[in-house]
Amino acid sequence: MRIAFLTDLHLGADGDLIQNVDVRQNFLKALEYVDQLKPNCLVLGGDICDTAGNQETYEWVRKEIDKLPFPNYIISGNHDNSLMLAGVFNKRHDLHTGELYYALPLEGRPTLFLDSSKGFFSDNQWAWFREYLQALRDNNVVIFMHHPPLTADVVFMDQKYAFQQSDEFLELVRDLPCHVTVVCGHYHVEKVVQRGNLLVLLTPSTFYQMNQDAPEFAIESYRIGIREVNLTTHGTSSAVFYIEPSQQPS
Ligand SMILES: [Fe+2]
Repeated sequence: MRIAFLTDLHLGADGDLIQNVDVRQNFLKALEYVDQLKPNCLVLGGDICDTAGNQETYEWVRKEIDKLPFPNYIISGNHDNSLMLAGVFNKRHDLHTGELYYALPLEGRPTLFLDSSKGFFSDNQWAWFREYLQALRDNNVVIFMHHPPLTADVVFMDQKYAFQQSDEFLELVRDLPCHVTVVCGHYHVEKVVQRGNLLVLLTPSTFYQMNQDAPEFAIESYRIGIREVNLTTHGTSSAVFYIEPSQQPS
């Protein structure tokens, strides 16, 4: 099964440029590229909105992705509103005390869609997550969440905007008799982090990419990033593609 993953769209209102970037145009270009990949589904990794959840923006995104001939799944980022997102994407049944999380099998592989939009999971979400992993036993699992669940040697993001419950996450996963693959965004970088049985695939944004070593906020490029994840009976493979925006921001 081939999954296309787009993240950190940072969309504003129709016609708005964000930091001089036509983010809606970037997203449409990424969707065109994704369509050519002919994936089995598309996952949007959160930060769909630039600052805060916006009904009109979510409706526009839904309209655009529903034109594609494959299903789509959504998770929430720190600039999203899980409640609003669930409403627009018909996922109200997967809302649990304000968080949007759910599970479904992709290519027979148990797949979890978690809500890290607050920078942490609620006790309820942890309980559900733990229970789910226990029930899976030795089945390998794929997790989509907005934040990388551990620091990733990306100086600025690790220091300012890291997931707040890395220790709990690592402790939970460490003792599992299976492989856990996390596909995430939030850091605006392409990176692979492996720790024990945990593999984390950090995915670049469709907005801009960050400089990984700078101690202060610094943009590395304005290329549009797209990740593809292949789940097969033999294992998992993944690739990242970049396309240029129509116009470089001035
Ligand atoms: Fe984010």
